[in-house]
This record gives sequence, structure tokens and C-alpha cells, in this order.
Amino acid sequence: MIAFRPSVKFDKQALIILFTKEQIKSKKFIIKNKIINEATTDLIFSGQFSGDDGQIFPLVVNKKLVLAVGIGASKDLSLTALRITVRKALLSSYLNEIKDVEIGLSNENFDEVIAVIEGALIGTYAWKKYLTKDKKNKTVDQKNIFIVTDKKKSYEDAVAICEGNNLTRDLINENADVADSVYIEKIIKGLIKGKKNIDIEVLNEKQMKAKGLGLHLAVNQGSNKEPKLIIVKYTGASKKDPYVALVGKGVTYDTGGLNLKPSGSIEGMKQDMSGTAAVVGTLKNTLSLKPKKNIIFACALAENAIGSGAYKPGDIFKGYAGKTVEIANTDAEGRLVLADAISYIIKNYKPAQLIDIATLTGACIVALGNDYTGLVSTDDKLANQLLEAAQKTDDRAWRLPSYPELKSSVKSKIADIRNLGFSKGAGGTITAAEFLRQFAEVDGTKWAHLDIAGTAFVDGAERMYFAHGATGAGVRLLTQFLKEK
Ligand code: BES
Ligand code: MN
Ligand code: ZN
Repeated sequence: MIAFRPSVKFDKQALIILFTKEQIKSKKFIIKNKIINEATTDLIFSGQFSGDDGQIFPLVVNKKLVLAVGIGASKDLSLTALRITVRKALLSSYLNEIKDVEIGLSNENFDEVIAVIEGALIGTYAWKKYLTKDKKNKTVDQKNIFIVTDKKKSYEDAVAICEGNNLTRDLINENADVADSVYIEKIIKGLIKGKKNIDIEVLNEKQMKAKGLGLHLAVNQGSNKEPKLIIVKYTGASKKDPYVALVGKGVTYDTGGLNLKPSGSIEGMKQDMSGTAAVVGTLKNTLSLKPKKNIIFACALAENAIGSGAYKPGDIFKGYAGKTVEIANTDAEGRLVLADAISYIIKNYKPAQLIDIATLTGACIVALGNDYTGLVSTDDKLANQLLEAAQKTDDRAWRLPSYPELKSSVKSKIADIRNLGFSKGAGGTITAAEFLRQFAEVDGTKWAHLDIAGTAFVDGAERMYFAHGATGAGVRLLTQFLKEK
């Protein structure tokens, strides 16, 4: 829980004060509380605290814990570093037994408050559902945090956005056999229950067969789970205004299919519905923030399993758009599921813009690493809007190219198109995007693609202000994009 209060009250079990290096050097800081002022003055004169970024110094004042926390020189203060430091302070062992914490920023401004909120709510998230011996080590999620600043609507929005972000993480972190298409449908229906300006359409296997979503069905063929295309329409503006569609890859588990993934690659594949999970988190945020926009949220759910019924490399399937696809590799399944979802949305909902989001290619990790989502679009305006939203929210993205000559990379001799790029896998992210582009850039639709294969999940050690597990990549970016557009 996070609340806001205009001044330091020193009434909680602990107080965290964030100091810049300049404040410590000049010995000038203004905490409007006499006792704390005296204690921190003593600390500063002791020469033990420099205000370097990440420095944490505990004091006991009036039987309460005060953590002096350095955030470095204000001239080169990075908001990412601030999130990391707030996370580090809240997770420090000093606060293990403490439930209520007040946080004072001695130098507050708008962006810094947002970073503190995110450092607290995104930074201290940890997936602990299946830990049985973790009773003592309470999740910091359960702390009550009181930030000293005047309450603003945008701060409350930021809290809501973190909650959407963390819902996305819960969905991804949950076991693949729990978070299947039926489960995700239930979550979505729970979110929209009783809400205004909402319509929902769900295609199950039967409807997909009737309507000809042959690519989506092919991917799910080896699974005993139900494939689903779930479409939520949010009309926040006039019905005549154009819609923007978000389409998320929702492969609830990706074994690779008959082109089976080897050990070392398969283990993380419950994360392969991260695109859908990001769409669901963004839907939650939309329902909290109520932007005056028209938005379509689409979740393309399937499981890429093995077995005698599984779709086979070398076979050809026809999708909703009428194009035939040669299956060169069953592990390139995300683009198939997305192609049908994109075609269906364009034909039946006619959005002006369509953004798909997917853990699509391992090549994106090779190209950009784990801190930047790959962005591909032929529309400079849309691409720049997304890059701006990424920059603003620290939900980072970097653009990769799309150009006419890529067409030849997905040519097939026996079908209209092939689900694999150049034979040696060169440019795997942009050839996958090229496949999607050929389904998305029809009827004047403006299209952008976000590849979150590298950013959706932290495996092993923590990264930036994210613990092991899902990060919620794409949620803050898309929520910001929808706010501004
Ligand atoms: N879901 C994977 C991509 C992925 C890899 C996501 C690592 C997250 C982490 C995708 O379906 C896939 O298997 N892609 C293949 C494509 C190849 C067969 C052209 C890949 O990246 O190897
Ligand atoms: Mn795959
Ligand atoms: Zn996949």
C-alpha cells in the first residue's frame, strides 16, 4: 500500500530519508522536524555519510529507525538509479520486521516521486506463491509506505500502473499449467465485470474452425488445452473515433513443437504468454485511468505442444487472411498465432493502428540484450510515439529496421509465405517482423511490433530494479502511449 502525506510526521516504525550528495556537502537540508534534523545533522558532521548513490546508514532516533539513504549528486541523478536505490533501501535487512515506513525526499520533484513509487512497488515485487518457508521474510509488497509529498492524481495513477504491471508479472510467473487460456479468460472477465464501455468477444476452437483461423489452430494442434482469441473493446471516446488495437502473443507454453527446444532453452517458456499478459496489465490500467480513447485489447492464446497430433514441419496451413503458410519450423509459432489474430482484428474491428507485443525471437536478445525491447515499424510517427513513451516510463525500447528487400526473406516455393527467415537465422527479429508486417499492413492499418523476448523475464540474478521472474515489460510503455495519443 502507498499513501501520500504533505509533511514528515515521524509517526511510523521507520523513516527513510533520501539525500543528494550536494545536501550532505553543503550541510543544508530541510526536514521540517526538529528531532530528525538534529540526528541527521550529527550524522553528517560525523563524516560517515557522503550521500553517494546507494549508501544506506541506519540511525535510531526516539526508538524509531531512520535510514539515511544517499542518491548521489543531483546533477547526474538518474531516475533508473533512484528506482534501484529505493528498492535496495526497502529490501535492506533493517526493514525486515517493519511494516509501516515513511519515505521523505529531501529534494522532491514530479519525476522523482514517480521513480520512488515505482522503486517501491515494482522494485519490491517478488513471486513467492510457492515458497513454503518464507513466512518470516515478508514480501515488501505487504509494507505500508507513506511518501512525503502533496497528493496528486498522477501519483495515484502511477500506483495503479504499478499494480497493472504486477498483475502482468503474476500471470507470467504462474505455472504454465495453471495460467492457461481458460485461466486468462477468467482473469480478463474478472477485470471487466461491471465496467462501462466494454465489449468482449471470445473465439474458442469451434469458432476458430468455423471462421478459418487455420494458423492459430495449427499451433495448438498438439495441445489438450483450448485455443482462444479474446478480444476486449474499450470505447472511451466517441464510437466514430478510430481504434488502436493491442495484440499480445499468448503461447502459454512453448516446447518448440516437433522442432523441440533443447534443455537450456525450454525451461523459461512459461513466459511465452508475456505479450498477452502485458495486454491484460494494460487493460487493467486502462480501466483505472479511463483514457478518452478507443482501444482493442486482443489476447491470442495457444499452447505449442508435442505429440502425434502436433503440426508438422513441412506442412502448409491456410490462415484467416486466406494466405497459405509453409511451416519451416514449428518453433516459429508466435508469428502464426499473431498473424491470425492480426488478420481477424483488422477485418472485423478495422483499427487505425495496431501494435503487437510478443516474446517472439531469441534473436532479439542477441541484438539488444535484456534491457531494451525491440521495436519494428514502417510508420515513423507511430514508432516515435512508442519510443517516447518508452523513454518517459523507463520501459525501454530500441528501433530495428524494416525495409522492402526483406520480403524475399520469407518467400516460399510451395506456399504464399514461410514462417522462417533467412536459412542461417540472420536478422531473426526483423524477418519475424517482416512476416507479421505482411499480415498487418493491410487496409491502411498502421502497425508496430514490440519484441519483448529479452525484456519480459529476468532469469537468475536481478536486473535493474526487477527481481528474478517476470518484469511486466511493455505495460508502462503501452499505458503511457495510450495516455498521450
Ligand atoms: N518464444 C520463442 C522466442 C523466445 C526465446 C522468447 C527466448 C523468450 C526467450 C519463439 O517462439 C521461438 O522459439 N523463436 C525461435 C524462432 C526460430 C525458430 C526462427 C527462436 O528465437 O529461436
Ligand atoms: Mn517458439
Ligand atoms: Zn514462442
